Amino acid sequence: MRIISPSLLSADFSKLKEQIQLVEKLGIDRLHVDVMDGHFVPNFTFGPFILKAIRKLTDSHLETHLMMDRPDKYIEEFIASGADTLIIHTEASKDIRADLTKIKSLGAKCGVAIKPSTQESVLEEYLDILDYILVMSVEPGFGGQSFIESSLDKMKAIVQMRGDKKILIGVDGGVNLKTIDAVYKTGIDITIVGSGLYKAGNISERYKQLMNV
Ligand code: DX5
Ligand code: ZN
Repeated sequence: MRIISPSLLSADFSKLKEQIQLVEKLGIDRLHVDVMDGHFVPNFTFGPFILKAIRKLTDSHLETHLMMDRPDKYIEEFIASGADTLIIHTEASKDIRADLTKIKSLGAKCGVAIKPSTQESVLEEYLDILDYILVMSVEPGFGGQSFIESSLDKMKAIVQMRGDKKILIGVDGGVNLKTIDAVYKTGIDITIVGSGLYKAGNISERYKQLMNV
């Protein structure tokens, strides 16, 4: 069965509790939380303070995507605030292995995200420690962008690289009704869906369509 992790970036934050409960009623138990620092990406969202508030609203697994420079400085705070999986960008980290080791030592699952222009070969030396790989299929920074088709080949390559290791592979950006079948065909495990779910007129109907039921 497909696993969809809704991106709260496209939810209506003025009624976040409702928006989370709406998708959880459909069976969703994993949510994607986007942290942006206005420097690593040209957009701001929020930091640990808001993550802590989101944590109070839900027991779902919170995969927290750090689009920020020097993630190492904030690892402890994000985990203390409720991140279940903490995802750093390979392009932003000064010492990827040290960051991943720290995340795991604090009891969270560790992940890395790679931008569309980053080669998948960067992942090879961390396969022994990674719990999660997040493949960006848009330039990080904004919801609602168009899916980059060439990222499909990268997904296939990463699925092959993962082999039988227990690493989850997620895909983030531009996943919607038009693109989701091709994305799952590559063998990845999780899709992050923001505007393709939360901006639908009927969210529960859209979820069923995305799940292909
Ligand atoms: C983009 C974020 C995504 C975003 C995806 O930088 O990392 O998680 O919310 O949104 P959609 O699904 O609208 O492309
Ligand atoms: Zn994201």
